Amino acid sequence: MDGKVVVITGAGSGIGRELAREAARRGARLALSDVDVDGLAETVRLVGAESSAEVHSDRLDVTEQAAVAEYASRVIEQFGVVHLVVNNAGIAFTGSVAQSGYKDIARVMDVDYWGVVHGTKEFLPHLIASGDGHLVNISSIFAILSVPTQNAYNAAKAAVQQFTESLRMEMLAGGHPVDVTCVHPGGIRTAVARSAGAAEGLDSATFATIFDSKFARTEASTAARVILDGVERRRARVLVGPDAYVIDAMVRLFPSGYQKATVAASRRFGVV
Ligand SMILES: NC(=O)c1ccc[n+]([C@@H]2O[C@H](COP(=O)([O-])OP(=O)(O)OC[C@H]3O[C@@H](n4cnc5c(N)ncnc54)[C@H](O)[C@@H]3O)[C@@H](O)[C@H]2O)c1
Repeated sequence: MDGKVVVITGAGSGIGRELAREAARRGARLALSDVDVDGLAETVRLVGAESSAEVHSDRLDVTEQAAVAEYASRVIEQFGVVHLVVNNAGIAFTGSVAQSGYKDIARVMDVDYWGVVHGTKEFLPHLIASGDGHLVNISSIFAILSVPTQNAYNAAKAAVQQFTESLRMEMLAGGHPVDVTCVHPGGIRTAVARSAGAAEGLDSATFATIFDSKFARTEASTAARVILDGVERRRARVLVGPDAYVIDAMVRLFPSGYQKATVAASRRFGVV
């Protein structure tokens, strides 16, 4: 990663922030962005305090295709090349299909799926031109395991997985010099649940408390190391955290049977 130009969206918090710190420690030059400019400034401060990495930071909303296109051009102007893009920005949302409005579901798809599509399409020509490109899309273990009340997030993250795996094969088939990695984190200690939305009438704080106390087991810094190790090993698929491995195995063994167990667990944890 030494000297490589690394682009990270959603770098103002959680996994994105720790990816920025870890990439800087490994010698990368950074293009960081987020909608949250205060969080982004804090990431830039942390990176500056522990490395001499070159860092450019910009406010960027990944749902805005024209803004992402303009941003990709700006990054090329600043650095001349891009080697690694991590489409990390994402949001969570809780609500059953019946409870969620169309707008709620569309918002999750806009950020979690279309944000990834924008970042992928706008940077892909530059990754190919670099001669040694790598694209990382952050999906979730919830692409593999569906959970009641996470239907929009499950759908968006499954879409990211399939989009990313298809692209990887296109790069292989076309002989393009771009590796592609899909990342499936399990529960990671970040602000994701505390920042999440919830359908009308639901209390998002309740779900955040359940997530933070019962499911967020892996530190974001560990997640960042696992992800960048996977990048360095050119892995197609990276699972993050022991829970991700257990869930992946459970769904393979019991592709429909897992659902009854998940409903029972959701009842026990007060999710449904
Ligand atoms: N934390 C987990 O347990 C977990 C598990 C699986 C997958 N993920 C995924 O990891 C990624 C990072 O999440 P995190 O856990 O670090 O959460 P986080 O909330 O700590 O960080 C997400 C960042 O994305 C930014 N963001 C949100 N909407 C944006 C937009 N429209 N444009 C640009 N930036 C935007 C937020 O401002 C925030 O800084 C997300 O894609 C999330 O879905 C997280």
